[in-house]
Formats: sequence, C-alpha cells, structure tokens
Amino acid sequence: MKKIHQILFEHCRGVMQNSYSPYSKIKVGATVITKEGVIFAGCNVENSSYGATICAERVALTKAISEGFRDFIAIGVLSNRFDYIPPCGICRQFIEELSPDIDVYLFNSKGDYKKYNIKKLLPYEFRIGE
Ligand code: THU
Repeated sequence: MKKIHQILFEHCRGVMQNSYSPYSKIKVGATVITKEGVIFAGCNVENSSYGATICAERVALTKAISEGFRDFIAIGVLSNRFDYIPPCGICRQFIEELSPDIDVYLFNSKGDYKKYNIKKLLPYEFRIGE
C-alpha cells in the first residue's frame, strides 16, 4: 500500500505539468487528501494582472471545497524551481482556516519531503471574531 507522502508526491508531479506560469516560469503543484481519502490536485495559474495569480495550494483547496469536501488531513506542495517550496503567507492563512490541524508536506524533485503541521507554519492566524 502506498504511503501518504507517495500519493501526494505523485499527484503533485502530475498536476504541476499543467501550471500556467508564463511570467515566473515557476511551476507549482499541490495536492490535498480529504479524510474520506479523496484527492484534489491543483496548479498555479498566473495572470497578466499579476495580483490575480492564484497559487497551487488554493486551487487544490478550492476545488475540494467546491465539490463539497471540508475535512482535510494532508496537503503536499512541489515546485520545478525550489526544493521544499514553502507556501506563501496567503496560502498558509487559507490552509489553516480550512484545516487547523493539517500536515503540510513540502517536496523536492526526488520526492523527499519535510513535514510540518500548519500550526508551525502559521502560529498566529488571523480570525474574524464572533
Ligand atoms: N506559488 C504557488 O503556487 N504557491 C506558493 O505557495 C508560492 C508561490 C506560485 C505563484 C506564482 O505563480 C509563482 O509561484 C511565483 O510566485
């Protein structure tokens, strides 16, 4: 049986190829696994209006949410440019709000990984109060 990091890595590697990144040339792939074991993968999608760019992590998560999934156990991220690409600040906030206890796997091109709980990557998250 495949381990969770192998599943995440394989999907990240596949979806990364679909990256639309003509400006940065940085391809990123992200994959989330729901508690039911369903997988959603996404790539970064850039735009001429640079601020409209969306990161791979948020594409994967918005795909999952749109399909009715709310509980995530792990998210993996892979890039063609960096070993162990760290999620940007917006993605950390986005991941944490949807999954405050999720494990984040950062991969290099060989499939080696560093694993962090999201609380470590975003220790002081923003929340709108009641
Ligand atoms: N990028 C991601 O997809 N995820 C991150 O967490 C960091 C940055 C993308 C966005 C943009 O297309 C490119 O990498 C350069 O910032």
